[in-house]
Amino acid sequence: MYSSVEDLSAAAPVTVKTLREMRENGEKIACLTAYDASFAQAQDLAGVDVILVGDSLGMVIQGEKTTVGVSTADIAYHARAVSKGLRRAFMMADMPFMSYATLDLAIENATALMQQGHANMIKLEGGEQQAEIVEYLSTRGIPVCAHVGLCPQLIHKLGGFKVQGREEAAAAQMLRDAKALTDAGADLLLVECVPAALGRELTEQSPVPVIGIGAGSSVDGQILVMHDLMNVLPGQKPRFVRDFSQGTQNVREAFSAYVQAVKSGSYPAAAEQFFAE
Ligand code: KIV
Repeated sequence: MYSSVEDLSAAAPVTVKTLREMRENGEKIACLTAYDASFAQAQDLAGVDVILVGDSLGMVIQGEKTTVGVSTADIAYHARAVSKGLRRAFMMADMPFMSYATLDLAIENATALMQQGHANMIKLEGGEQQAEIVEYLSTRGIPVCAHVGLCPQLIHKLGGFKVQGREEAAAAQMLRDAKALTDAGADLLLVECVPAALGRELTEQSPVPVIGIGAGSSVDGQILVMHDLMNVLPGQKPRFVRDFSQGTQNVREAFSAYVQAVKSGSYPAAAEQFFAE
C-alpha cells in the first residue's frame, strides 16, 4: 500500500518484464478491473499490479446483461480515463466482441486502444483459432493477453456463464489452446472459471504468467471485477467472489485487503475454487 501519489510515482512502473520476474520469483500478481481515473488511482495506491479495462463495463457500467454490445470506442474512452489515474500499475484493455474478427480489424482496434486509450496490452478471448491474430499483433509490437476458459463474449453460443473444462476432452483442448496462443506470442494468459486442477496444469505448462478468475490458487495471479470485490450489489455471486469490503473503512482499504490476500495466497480459499465433479 502506498501512502501518497508521490510515493507511487517514485515506484518503478510494472511492465511485462516485471510480471515475468514476479512469476519467476513466486510473487503472486494482484489484478483488478477499473473503469475510471479515481478507482484506478485508489487501486494503484493499494498496490494492484495490473488493471484491466474489461468489457465487463458493458454489465457493471452500462447496465447491459452481457458484454456483447461494448464497442472499441467505449473501451478506449474508459481506458484513457483509467490511464490518467495510474503511476505504477500496468494497464490492459479488452478487445470487444467482433473487434478482432479479421486481421485488419484486430490491428486497427488494438492500435486505437493503445494510441487513444493508452493501453499497455490488449486482451482478446478465444482458443487456438485466435493464434494467427495473436501472432499478427504480437509481431507488430502489440503485447497480448489471451483469455481462455469461460469466454463471456461467447455467451450466446455457450448458453450461460458456466465452468469450462470439466470434461477430459474439453480440458485437453484448453491445454492445446493455451499452448497455441503462447507459441503465437501471447505475453500473458487469463483463465476464467475452470477447475482448480486444470488451472494448475495450464500454469505448469505456460511459459508466460497466468492470471486466474475462478481458476484456483495455483495460477500466478488473480483478477476480480472491482464491483464484486466491493460487494456493490446484493444477490448471488459466483463461487470465487469474496467480499473484501467487510471490516474495511473505505474502498482503498478493501483494495489493499484484496492485494494482501492475493500476495499471501490466502485468496482464493478452497471454498472459492471449482473442483472436478
Ligand atoms: O471483462 C472483464 O472484466 C474480464 C474479467 C472478468 C477477467 O475479462
